[in-house]
Amino acid sequence: MSGEEAAALAQPEEQQPEQAAQPPPDEPAAATAPAQEQTPEPTYRCLVLSGHGGYDKVKLQTRKGVPGPPRAGEVLVRVRACGLNFADLMGRQGLYDRLPSPPTTLGMECSGIVEQLGEGVTDRQVGDKVMVLNRSGLWQELVTVQANHTFIMPEGMSFEEAAAFLVNYITAYLIIFDCGNLRPNQNILVHMAAGGVGTAAVQLCKTVDNVTIFGTASTAKHEFLKESGVTHPIDYRTTDYIEEVRKISPKGVDIVLDPLGGSDTCKAFNLLKPMGKLVIYGSANLLTGQKKNLMALAKTWWNQFSINAMQLLHSNKSVSGFNLGYLDEEVELISGVVTKLVELYKQGTIKPKVDSVWPFEQVGDAMRQMQEKKNVGKVVLTTEPPKEEPKKEETKNEEKADKTAKAGNSEKAAKAGNADKAEKAGNADKAEKAGNAEKVEKAEKEEN
Ligand SMILES: NC(=O)c1ccc[n+]([C@@H]2O[C@H](COP(=O)([O-])OP(=O)(O)OC[C@H]3O[C@@H](n4cnc5c(N)ncnc54)[C@H](OP(=O)(O)O)[C@@H]3O)[C@@H](O)[C@H]2O)c1
Repeated sequence: MSGEEAAALAQPEEQQPEQAAQPPPDEPAAATAPAQEQTPEPTYRCLVLSGHGGYDKVKLQTRKGVPGPPRAGEVLVRVRACGLNFADLMGRQGLYDRLPSPPTTLGMECSGIVEQLGEGVTDRQVGDKVMVLNRSGLWQELVTVQANHTFIMPEGMSFEEAAAFLVNYITAYLIIFDCGNLRPNQNILVHMAAGGVGTAAVQLCKTVDNVTIFGTASTAKHEFLKESGVTHPIDYRTTDYIEEVRKISPKGVDIVLDPLGGSDTCKAFNLLKPMGKLVIYGSANLLTGQKKNLMALAKTWWNQFSINAMQLLHSNKSVSGFNLGYLDEEVELISGVVTKLVELYKQGTIKPKVDSVWPFEQVGDAMRQMQEKKNVGKVVLTTEPPKEEPKKEETKNEEKADKTAKAGNSEKAAKAGNADKAEKAGNADKAEKAGNAEKVEKAEKEEN
């Protein structure tokens, strides 16, 4: 065991999933004490990164007490849902430099209800429903954060949507409008177009007149891309996406949003029209499996985009970089963007696409969903414990019939040569086995 793991495990109690929802055992003295004196010590659960590596490095722990009372300018929030971001996958592998060293609580966004106010906080009330943005530490049932890192949830927004809002939409807004300066009649290439930032980016591009959107994603997600407004979905896994774009737009594109890095950044720069804009905002190519892959790191570094001032001058192109993780002190800038985004949400112009919701106990599965490229939209974690429905005999029979039907579908899809449909039918079964009605419903919807 490494030093960092040992330190993590020496911390508060780590829970097995089935124990997680249990209250702490009573002290022996409490058993004989009168009922009114038995106030069980409060506890709260959190997801802690115990060391760098695979899914099992994120541990569910229960801590005794409550986080310290909010200091001046802070609020205490009871968390209901949390957003999973690509940076959390990278952080788990030790590839994200804005995360403190393990052991550390993960999570850069959540939603919940304000429970206590620190001194001097006047623009929040106890009971306010808020979205929260922080560098880390938010995958926890109770969090103490700066009040100016919280944003009031608009009416009608669910906690799950709120957990899917801040990181994706702030990023998409700033890369499209500030860095990319998207204008009417332009065309844009959006990579990972069916992911969290991707779905937000497509919705925001649609707010500008006559924009042509090229969007890359796995084929299974293309129907969704078309419905959401992508003009030309491209499967980067089976085709050369540069060729595909040039077939439709021989001169290239006005803007490329690049979350990939490595050789894809060079391709993006070459694909730009004169006066085009390349926005670099991620390095997803570093992630190839559960654990850090040194070959992928070396390859990405070796193929890294590089240009000198004279080359840039002659190219008539712009290159910009964006990292929300380094804007955490820019409170005015961020709250200005959130105000605009909340207005767009209220108008019904943008709406977070939630892929799936997972209890804290299943954080590994939630991460797998994203890392294995299955998500369409945002993966969300909920602080609610998994629901265990008591199984009645007739429900069991219904489930059996349902499973048979699904197995049929899965076979049909496979026979039709549609591996994705078959996979989704499989997912429906898997979700059903986990007793999660919401996931079953979603998988069934996708299947149709
Ligand atoms: N700079 C910033 O401030 C900032 C903020 C937020 C996010 N980001 C970046 O934006 C990108 C998207 O982030 P997100 O949180 O919204 O995630 P996401 O897009 O939901 O990520 C998962 C999806 O990405 C695609 N993908 C492409 N390469 C992948 C790889 N190597 N491993 C796993 N999936 C891969 C997969 O879909 P398909 O294969 O079907 O496309 C997968 O379903 C990431 O690069 C992230 O680092 C940057």
